[in-house]
Amino acid sequence: MQMIIIIIIKSTTPGVTFSGSTLSGAIQMLEPGLDCGLAVTSNGHGAHCYNCRRSEPGKSVNDFQQRVELSTTRVTKLVFPHDTNHIRTLYGGTAMQWMDEVGFLVATRFSRQKVVTVSIDRVDFKVPIPEGSIVELVGKVIRVGNTSMTTRVQIFRENMFAGGQQLAVSAEMVFVAVGEDNKPTPLSVHQTTPAEQS
Ligand SMILES: CC(C)(COP(=O)(O)OP(=O)(O)OC[C@H]1O[C@@H](n2cnc3c(N)ncnc32)[C@H](O)[C@@H]1OP(=O)(O)O)[C@@H](O)C(=O)NCCC(=O)NCCS
Repeated sequence: MQMIIIIIIKSTTPGVTFSGSTLSGAIQMLEPGLDCGLAVTSNGHGAHCYNCRRSEPGKSVNDFQQRVELSTTRVTKLVFPHDTNHIRTLYGGTAMQWMDEVGFLVATRFSRQKVVTVSIDRVDFKVPIPEGSIVELVGKVIRVGNTSMTTRVQIFRENMFAGGQQLAVSAEMVFVAVGEDNKPTPLSVHQTTPAEQS
């Protein structure tokens, strides 16, 4: 009888990615923060999501992890006077437009399908961003559903001369893959290729 061992590791250190190589290749974890905690079973025949409890026979966690890495998007901008409000800090509406665009790019790169925004969850404006700041927007997929993807988009502010980065704005945005009829359609990332099926 074949025994399958599943180990889940949670990291408390942001930005740290676990590697299966330190555990004899038995497990691999997606980046911490990816709520859809896909972990591969020890026989390497499939991935299983502890969040939505879906199994992906024929898929390795690497397929998802690689897509997450390749779709992570960074956009750097300068805050011009026309981007600001009456107190000469970045206008919230402008920030949200930039974030929606980055989230859209992330979801499109991840899925390579037509996507639309279905939800923008709670936007936190933590610190003001003065005119003349450099800002970096960073977006990545943190959860994968059947037809939807949740992205986390953050804006970091950077003083032009002092450098350094500080998290200024953060939001989670959900995008849905749609077909020709603009109705939800399953993400193609869930489909196995003919080579994988054989
Ligand atoms: C996006 C749209 C196609 C979804 O259609 P729908 O019939 O409501 O979708 P469903 O109820 O079948 O849900 C589809 C997916 O979206 C998710 N979803 C739907 N509403 C959501 C919400 N408010 N927040 C988060 N996720 C949501 C569902 O959980 C589901 O995810 P899953 O398949 O991964 O489990 C439709 O609502 C729409 O066209 N909205 C307008 C989009 C738009 O104009 N965006 C702005 C311009 S891009």
